[in-house]
Amino acid sequence: MTQTLGFVGVGDLAEYTISGLRRGGYRGRILLSPRNHEMSKKLAQDWQCKVMESNQAVADSADQLILSTRPGQCLEALGELSLRTNQLIISVVAGVSIASLQEVAGNNCSIVRAMPVNCARACASPTLIYPEHEVVCNLFNYCGDSIAADDESAFDQGNIIACVYTWYFELFQQLIDATSGDSLSTGMASKLVLGMAKGAASLALDEQATPGEIAEIIATEGTFSKLGLDILKQASAFEPWQQACDKLSKQMRS
Ligand SMILES: NC(=O)c1ccc[n+]([C@@H]2O[C@H](COP(=O)([O-])OP(=O)(O)OC[C@H]3O[C@@H](n4cnc5c(N)ncnc54)[C@H](OP(=O)(O)O)[C@@H]3O)[C@@H](O)[C@H]2O)c1
Repeated sequence: MTQTLGFVGVGDLAEYTISGLRRGGYRGRILLSPRNHEMSKKLAQDWQCKVMESNQAVADSADQLILSTRPGQCLEALGELSLRTNQLIISVVAGVSIASLQEVAGNNCSIVRAMPVNCARACASPTLIYPEHEVVCNLFNYCGDSIAADDESAFDQGNIIACVYTWYFELFQQLIDATSGDSLSTGMASKLVLGMAKGAASLALDEQATPGEIAEIIATEGTFSKLGLDILKQASAFEPWQQACDKLSKQMRS
């Protein structure tokens, strides 16, 4: 039976998630809330979605309803909906707990949290889910790999990595700028930096060894790799990453 997916809140997250779902082969119906009409219209044209006349019309027809407004708007948007018994709500809203959502939506519907990031557009989002839910896992597998958290605190802690994901782009840019110049064009440096990052991640996902162990295996005494790594370690280059993660962890718990 064809499933129907609805989005209440059509902004950046809806745009990249829908692009990824369709590119990954999702053929179900997709319904969109009308606010931000320009984006809804574009998604309707590009990815065979239907713009509905109200949020309620989306909820009425959706088998799975994705709540994708900003955190400050989500409880009000959810509270205004009249939901069916056992209706499945997937909240992608950062920092809003299941208990808060359930308080507004009532106990008759099922709530699952998910955190797709924008490489969903390239069908490559490692999407954290809580609680584990087969339908939701299958859905996000169209635009990457679903990863279920054991409890909500693991889900919240895992969300820090969705922020680390953004920092990678700055690091990539820094490395492209540092390695390009007269002999190597920016385009070539970009291909190499991004390709090496993709290769490193693929190898680390495949191997038994931890990423730290792989670095030690490669950067042995007398290698250029070790020469550079030693400079980074002497300059405590990795400590600010720890500090940034600690700060987010504290902030998200407060
Ligand atoms: N973008 C990301 O990379 C990312 C990553 C992970 C998680 N998230 C989560 O995803 C959620 C959406 O983020 P976003 O970046 O897509 O935000 P966004 O671009 O601002 O999109 C949110 C959309 O929801 C609309 N909206 C607000 N209230 C509404 C209501 N009552 N009914 C229907 N639509 C309503 C907004 O319209 P107006 O502009 O008119 O207010 C806007 O178009 C956030 O909660 C965020 O925590 C985002």
